[in-house]
Amino acid sequence: MAKLWGGRFEESLDKKTEAFGASITFDQKMARQDLKGSLAHVTMLATTGILTTEEAEQIKAGIQKVEAKYEAGEIDFKIENEDIHMNMETYLHAEIGSVAGKLHTARSRNDQVATDMHLWMKDTLSETMAKLENLREVIVNLASNHVETIMPGYTHLQHAQPISFGHHLMAYYSMLTRDFERFGSNMQHADISPLGAAALAGTTFPIDRKETAELMGFSDVYVNSMDAVSDRDFILEFLSNASILMMHLSRFCEEIILWCSHEFQFVTLSDAFSTGSSIMPQKKNPDMAELIRGKSGRVYGNLFGLLTVMKSLPLAYNKDLQEDKEGMFDTAETILTSLDVMAGMLSTLSVNETVMAEATEQDFSNATELADYLAAKGLPFRQAHEIVGEMVLACTKAGYYLQDVPLARYQEVSPLIEADIYETLKSRTAVQRRNSYGGTGFEQVKMQIALAQAALKKENSEKA
Ligand code: ARG
Repeated sequence: MAKLWGGRFEESLDKKTEAFGASITFDQKMARQDLKGSLAHVTMLATTGILTTEEAEQIKAGIQKVEAKYEAGEIDFKIENEDIHMNMETYLHAEIGSVAGKLHTARSRNDQVATDMHLWMKDTLSETMAKLENLREVIVNLASNHVETIMPGYTHLQHAQPISFGHHLMAYYSMLTRDFERFGSNMQHADISPLGAAALAGTTFPIDRKETAELMGFSDVYVNSMDAVSDRDFILEFLSNASILMMHLSRFCEEIILWCSHEFQFVTLSDAFSTGSSIMPQKKNPDMAELIRGKSGRVYGNLFGLLTVMKSLPLAYNKDLQEDKEGMFDTAETILTSLDVMAGMLSTLSVNETVMAEATEQDFSNATELADYLAAKGLPFRQAHEIVGEMVLACTKAGYYLQDVPLARYQEVSPLIEADIYETLKSRTAVQRRNSYGGTGFEQVKMQIALAQAALKKENSEKA
């Protein structure tokens, strides 16, 4: 069949070029959105009197037939028809004949593709947020079982101070909550209808852009037709939010990979989320955590790809914009599956509480406790720090820890040190006492969990 834009051409398109220019192999992912946009458009063409009710009804019935065929998997997308818009219109033509040609009145593929992408993005943002919510729930549940599980807290990957494992987990909850909020505000810019901008300048027909926006479920319409067809900020925001999300997941995965190593043995991954080696029979590898860490690379790549596509584009539509889709689809698929795998991995991992706690027994992560103890008794903190530093050095040379130092020796160092120092030096005491707002003290971790549970409950009730 001749091209829908074929009138101006004398020769047919070179075959390889045709495939090069086509987007149907990937933009068919927006088939439902394309049909939804067309339905809204034709409905409006009738209410505004641009088409007769009869014409519009015929077209609507045709679109519904194409939709049924699509849902039944009976649509055969063709490269010759270039993209999702012209593939669908060709099917419509096959269903209802030449009246199908009236659908494109007061519309261009430029506003059509932008509309499809906005609709697709809204669906994807909702799906992303639902999965993020689920992962946050998994983390809060895990944290609530581990408020009093003690582990080493690290800075520079060196034992720093003992912390609650629940506290460590809740840090990730906070990051993912910001991600959730970012995708939520991304929704504001996705939720605007470009339909009716036509090619770039609007149309001479008396269209009603608010009506189509409402029919498609958009809260607003673009106020400038040139911006409407060339804006891809809502996709860049998505790719950027997805990059930050993947950075968070990747950091978490890096820790999980460390924690399940032989050196740490803090957690054990369930078999369902691990894989073996084809040569080393003993291996149980954290492949899924490694893959999520690795996939952050392609998600960042997609962001940079589109930023680069956009950077020199003159207004308004340019075919370069067709390059906005594959990275967007790939990023969506990557984050959606990563969120699922992450939730599965975390809800099935077992925590080796004893190993974690013991890791804080044979180290100097209680040195701050001793310094704080002296400072609380009036010694300037800097002086206390110096004394404890010297003690750590002496212990290191002698091969024991602060909790092993006899009281008599402590009292030589400072008469302020009394027998209660040994209780103070215990990891559990150290954690429990860090009760400053947002600290790792059990009460503070419980407070964070309660806030998180209330926030999740509120989000759930707002959805319902
Ligand atoms: N397939 C095109 C895209 O994805 C649709 C818009 C085409 N518009 C045009 N004037 N060639 O961007």
